[in-house]
Amino acid sequence: VAGLLVELGRPEVRGADEERHRDLFLSYLERDDTVALVADEGGEVVGFLDMDFRQRLNYEAPQAWIPDLVVSEQHRSRGHGGALLQRAVELARERGCWSIQLESANWRMDAHRFYLREGLTDFAKSFGKQLP
Ligand SMILES: CC(C)(COP(=O)(O)OP(=O)(O)OC[C@H]1O[C@@H](n2cnc3c(N)ncnc32)[C@H](O)[C@@H]1OP(=O)(O)O)[C@@H](O)C(=O)NCCC(=O)NCCS
Repeated sequence: VAGLLVELGRPEVRGADEERHRDLFLSYLERDDTVALVADEGGEVVGFLDMDFRQRLNYEAPQAWIPDLVVSEQHRSRGHGGALLQRAVELARERGCWSIQLESANWRMDAHRFYLREGLTDFAKSFGKQLP
């Protein structure tokens, strides 16, 4: 999973800092307001999606938020991404969430097509600032 996240553009954590990040992964898995799903092909983890259930003010129910979705390059276009997203939607419904949401960088135009095809709506811009 750490390797898949590097493919997505997240920092490399394998190697020097690995133990600390293993603990962070484990504590993420232990939370009851998170879900982590993997796509498996022949015993190999080829895709990953994580999801947080977050509480928004003025809403009774939680909102599902997907920080990361990635399928390894050589295993794309085989339905893994769609299956991961559909399972996330199912779990968010079971949890009573009022919406499921994610942000996607402007340059990921292939992913935007994928999300539209999967029935998501492009309805917002995302703004952020790096804090070095
Ligand atoms: C977007 C992504 C998760 C979709 O996973 P997937 O397993 O390829 O999805 P599916 O097989 O269910 O659907 C494939 C469709 O996704 C779209 N797609 C988006 N990016 C793609 C890519 N780099 N390669 C192939 N298909 C891609 C295509 O529309 C494709 O349809 P097609 O096979 O008819 O051409 C995956 O392509 C990926 O990890 N991309 C790079 C990382 C990324 O952009 N993640 C989203 C961050 S917001």
